[in-house]
Amino acid sequence: LNSASPPARRKWLADFSECLFSFVIQLLPTQEELAVKEDVRKLLERLIRTIEPESRLLSFGSTANGYGLRNSDMDLCCLIDSEERLAASDLVTMLGDLLERETKFHVKPLPHARIPIVKLSLDPSPGLPLGIACDIGFENRLALENTRLLMCYAMIDPTRVRTMVLFLKVWSKRRKINSPYKGTLSSYGYVLLVIYFLVHVKNPPVLPNLQQMPPLRPIPKEETYLGGFNTWFFDDIELLRQRWHSENTETVAELLIDFFRYFSRDFPYGVGVASIRAGLLKKDSKGWQNDLSASRYNDARERNRFCIEDPFETDYNVARCVTKDGLYTIRGEFMRASRVLAARPERAILALADLCD
Ligand code: GTP
Ligand code: MG
Repeated sequence: LNSASPPARRKWLADFSECLFSFVIQLLPTQEELAVKEDVRKLLERLIRTIEPESRLLSFGSTANGYGLRNSDMDLCCLIDSEERLAASDLVTMLGDLLERETKFHVKPLPHARIPIVKLSLDPSPGLPLGIACDIGFENRLALENTRLLMCYAMIDPTRVRTMVLFLKVWSKRRKINSPYKGTLSSYGYVLLVIYFLVHVKNPPVLPNLQQMPPLRPIPKEETYLGGFNTWFFDDIELLRQRWHSENTETVAELLIDFFRYFSRDFPYGVGVASIRAGLLKKDSKGWQNDLSASRYNDARERNRFCIEDPFETDYNVARCVTKDGLYTIRGEFMRASRVLAARPERAILALADLCD
């Protein structure tokens, strides 16, 4: 890229940005899909209320955070507003039975999982050519809050932030490095990497740090603490837009190229922790070492190869599923992407095709 004359380089970057933008637009869910999903949520909420009248069923994850792709799963969370409620595992069993009787969903209750959930799926139909997959969990208030945080970041600079995140989600799925069960990283992990990069690596930053901005009024602790974790962040995005402006004018293409370069070459995987709350931290300072001396916890080495701090649950490594091989593959993919983009094929669209091949 650097050897090209500036105007030719600028033209290519503008073309590539345009390609990225049109590519992700056609992968967004249709209005029809969104409407069907909302109907499903309402139907499930009605049924759950026959067991727990005081309950609400809320969307989180990609259906609610602004980074949804076509046919993505539905993540639902049931909140129960009464004091006397059933245990989550009992609810999962009862709800499983009820849904099996009353609906056409395939139902799989997992009452004994670390986080008890009911898994549902619906076969394809004309209105829903790929069917629906949905998980219902209970009282996962932290997930609702981190969904709201990611959504606020998307709203600050929708064009650049959403385009980058959506592209990375598609890219990581096509390159098969988006499977926590197989040792690579969840979508949630990739979204956190993009936000970390835009808040803490880019200079000037593309995004402000919403968790470190001064609040408009003093906030009583009990209003923002959930399970011992501070979940406060600046969420008045209208006001923020009036008061804060990014000095960074790079295009989506430039940001993406730099993102791949940073995570293939510069991020200190061995010792560093990516935190959107606090920037680059040390594994040492969090007790997340992955050297042999940490083998007191037998799998500590495996758990902390790649470290991404959850924005609220700060003792939780979102990348804990990433194995040695998984990290090797992920870094290899970041390098491959850097190489493809550095070659700058004459037509920008070819770079896109090559990236996701
Ligand atoms: P797709 O399903 O791939 O479209 O992406 P998604 O945006 O829904 O992400 P994902 O399914 O990985 O996660 C859904 C939501 O679950 C996230 O927005 C988080 O709120 C929550 N979540 C997922 N993984 C974790 C995790 O490891 N820790 C915590 N605390 N929350 C998580
Ligand atoms: Mg999801």
